[in-house]
Amino acid sequence: MAKEEWERAYGQIDHKKLPWYNIQLPKALLEFVKIINKKDLLLITGCGTGDTVFRLWKKGFKNIIGFDISNNAIKIAQKDYPQIKFYAYKTQDIAQKLGLKNANVADLNVLHHQKHGVEVKKYVDQLKKLSKNLCLAYFYEPDIKEIKSGIKEKEAIYIHDPSQVEKLFEPMKKVKEFRYEMDVAPKMFDKKYIHAVGQIYGK
Ligand SMILES: C[S@@+](CC[C@H](N)C(=O)[O-])C[C@H]1O[C@@H](n2cnc3c(N)ncnc32)[C@H](O)[C@@H]1O
Repeated sequence: MAKEEWERAYGQIDHKKLPWYNIQLPKALLEFVKIINKKDLLLITGCGTGDTVFRLWKKGFKNIIGFDISNNAIKIAQKDYPQIKFYAYKTQDIAQKLGLKNANVADLNVLHHQKHGVEVKKYVDQLKKLSKNLCLAYFYEPDIKEIKSGIKEKEAIYIHDPSQVEKLFEPMKKVKEFRYEMDVAPKMFDKKYIHAVGQIYGK
């Protein structure tokens, strides 16, 4: 279900008009890139049409790969940034399909699309397999469990409590956490800002 919703969004809307296109880079990511080696492999999971991957490539991360569940998004990314490698894989399949593990990984604004319960747990389990160092960013509104998104008709945005997420990541250790406000496109929600959290984990 989720995949079709994403294919529809990327197939019907000009990607440069999507609310997450070229948004501010989370502070956690800016800190993360300072502590990892530029020569090491860096995986960007759920990268959409690759704008963040490209910004990191420009910062000197040439050993970088972008992944997204949506074929439409990856086709656009590959066309816009032919010098970078992209794969249309969902995050849950990367470790198995490419035999990758213990990499540096950045997963930005994807976790809040995974449903509470089994879905988010499986997602985290795969990220744990894939990463030795991980930067994770997602929406967080205290006391709210779900928010209706204007982009995906059939699915909500699921709010996960950062302390619960931290538990799911055990035995990985949370190294740093940042709380911030994200400027969101007015059409997406009924408010201009949404709270978000960025966490850095290590093994
Ligand atoms: C809100 S967009 C964020 C895109 C990008 N990470 C950014 O911050 O600009 C969420 C992205 O996650 C992708 N996505 C959702 N679930 C996924 C999954 N299970 N595996 C990989 N990508 C997924 C969607 O196709 C979409 O491109």
